[in-house]
Amino acid sequence: MNTAEIMTAFTSGLADINLAEPDTARGGEKAAERMKTASSTIYDMAATLSAKGDLWNWGMYDPEIVDEIRARLPGFGEFGTDGFSEQLYFLALRDLPIGLDDYDGRTVLEVGCGTGEGLNFLSRIARGARMTGLDLSPRAIARASATLARADVLEFVHGDAEKLPFVDGSVNILVNIESSHNYPDLGRFLREVERVLSPGGILTHIDVFTRQRYAAMRRMTAEIDGLTWVTDHDISDRVRAAIGRRMASDSHFHATLARQRMNPMARRIAAHSQILMFGGMFAGYQPPAVIRLLSRIGIVPWVSGLPMESYRHQVAVRR
Ligand SMILES: C[S@@+](CC[C@H](N)C(=O)[O-])C[C@H]1O[C@@H](n2cnc3c(N)ncnc32)[C@H](O)[C@@H]1O
Repeated sequence: MNTAEIMTAFTSGLADINLAEPDTARGGEKAAERMKTASSTIYDMAATLSAKGDLWNWGMYDPEIVDEIRARLPGFGEFGTDGFSEQLYFLALRDLPIGLDDYDGRTVLEVGCGTGEGLNFLSRIARGARMTGLDLSPRAIARASATLARADVLEFVHGDAEKLPFVDGSVNILVNIESSHNYPDLGRFLREVERVLSPGGILTHIDVFTRQRYAAMRRMTAEIDGLTWVTDHDISDRVRAAIGRRMASDSHFHATLARQRMNPMARRIAAHSQILMFGGMFAGYQPPAVIRLLSRIGIVPWVSGLPMESYRHQVAVRR
């Protein structure tokens, strides 16, 4: 497949997964495999293009969380990122039945770890744990292993969320951030979570939902006996607050783009595509007139995005 075909397979795969009404039949195993091939190729490309410190989620903004992170990591905010994506990672561990000072000897698995930068950040927040990041993109894993892995603290493995390469009951805390909307079979992933978590183990799950995907998730959570769901918080406002700050003209995001060598039009197109990738539509982004014109004449592809309804944080405990 060439790049355009991969993009098409990825966007139509995402639509199939996230817009299907619960209980309707989808494309089956072949379509699922096509989506996974497209997804790992897209994130392989992202891994090649990403800079040191980049994370791949939409982020959140909450000044209280910023203060709590600074109390644990003095200098947070001066790491060369805007810190919004790290705040989402902090939230994932913040209000769990296990306190942040109680991680000694525990095993943490992140499924869909992308660049590994988020898990690396968590390894400095919740010290003493053995952390493993897993991702479907071989290049993201190779890059994370080469730059972030630390013996007995942090390692990275290639794998599929729907078929986790871990023995039953071997994980104490399973983190999943903005990844599960890519999985063709969410039920299969949740049954894998149920299998690998130890009794009392915790799933902390953060993702963006269409109306249909949320309905499907609620139905599945009721069906999986081994997981007790303890929270389901809508955090959309805090996610929109981060996206809005990233889109502002004086943001870290625009300053980073301004430092790259390209002509002004290429920079506007790059800004537009990155704003779309980082949730612009969810926060009410309207493409500028010049981009709308370029789309009309076919120079910039028109991307309307999926109708995402909410961004949520959900926690479940293994019985
Ligand atoms: C939007 S990125 C989020 C990455 C990271 N959690 C972060 O917040 O920076 C989604 C990630 O999910 C991964 N992914 C997609 N499908 C997957 C699957 N079936 N198994 C494991 N990882 C998957 C992608 O490769 C990508 O790294």
